[in-house]
Amino acid sequence: MYLTKEEERIYDGELGWTKQVCMKILVKLGELFDGERLIPIDSAHISGVSYKTLGEAPTDFLEALAKANEKTKVEATLNPQSFDPEHLRKRLPKQLLQKQLDILQIFERMGFKQSYTCTPYYIREPEKNSHLAWAESSAVVYANSVLGAWTNREGGPSALAAAIIGKTPDYGVHKAINRKPKILVEVDSPIKEEVEYGALGIFLGKILKDKIPIIKGLGNTSEENLKQLGAALASAGMTNMFHYKDSKLKGERLEKISVKANEIRKAIEELTTAPKQKPDLVFVGCPHCSLNEIREIANVVGGKKVRDNTEFWVCTSCHVKEKAKSYVQKIEASGAKVITDTCAVVTWTDKLGIETIMTNSAKTAHYAPTLNKANTILAPLKECLKTALKE
Ligand code: F3S
Repeated sequence: MYLTKEEERIYDGELGWTKQVCMKILVKLGELFDGERLIPIDSAHISGVSYKTLGEAPTDFLEALAKANEKTKVEATLNPQSFDPEHLRKRLPKQLLQKQLDILQIFERMGFKQSYTCTPYYIREPEKNSHLAWAESSAVVYANSVLGAWTNREGGPSALAAAIIGKTPDYGVHKAINRKPKILVEVDSPIKEEVEYGALGIFLGKILKDKIPIIKGLGNTSEENLKQLGAALASAGMTNMFHYKDSKLKGERLEKISVKANEIRKAIEELTTAPKQKPDLVFVGCPHCSLNEIREIANVVGGKKVRDNTEFWVCTSCHVKEKAKSYVQKIEASGAKVITDTCAVVTWTDKLGIETIMTNSAKTAHYAPTLNKANTILAPLKECLKTALKE
């Protein structure tokens, strides 16, 4: 890889061993994937923030970076952590919270934004064609496919190194040639609901592996539906982006597959594992809700009450919650909780006595049986609301 004089000095350790390690991570990645140089990034987004998913993985390097007074060189946001300060803090074991707070404090010292969301693009939308180093897979697919920004799917350490150095190696989808569709997916019958988009994502993720598809037949759909599709696609496979506008086809001859209505139906059925239809928790907001989604929920919830013995969580970022104050009031007056900074997957639902989760997110339904030891019911938002609320 070509390095500038300044990059070489960092690589040789002239600016300290912590920066040197970060530079070595980036160069190693570049060499592995035929990167030619490092390119400046507009922002970084770090995963592996929740103590529940991080567990006892060593945080020594993180601590060493903070001790060496390393700071983020670019805007750097953080993925959800493991508790909500308002609603879950008192319900979870103290020693787990303390471990989590210790991790958050290290990130804070290094200048990371206390965003704790998987939808950093609702805080600041990255510019079209800007280069990013993001590590949350759902946000990576959304940034590449819907927002037109350019980011590989980083791991926690490489996104961290990129945040400190302010650069990333130019391989993968940072190169225009690698962003072209490799396979044409024709969706045979119209799909409308968010769970169908999610189920399509899980179905395609399993068969595409890392191939970039162009998906025909989605019509003029909402960005929220595309968010569900991307999150599920990235959960079940390694694809980092999809195309959905016919104009991207440009007469190319591609391998073709079609997806039939019964295959999407079957994927939805398989994502429901609960033997009974009575959930302990109804959870929406995976990925974290947009302002539009919060408004839509508030309009249905207004004046109603959450059923006894059922929890209803609407997860979003504190940034969106702040902007949605009047809707939040309406939702919370029903007994529902607008949860920030975390989600049902990255907090300890099992420690809260939750055995069955109903959700409109295929990503959550895909992960919850293993990560939460929970049974799942995948259903569209209107059914989730009907189940959560009294008539
Ligand atoms: Fe976000 Fe949690 Fe889903 S981190 S993408 S809401 S699993």
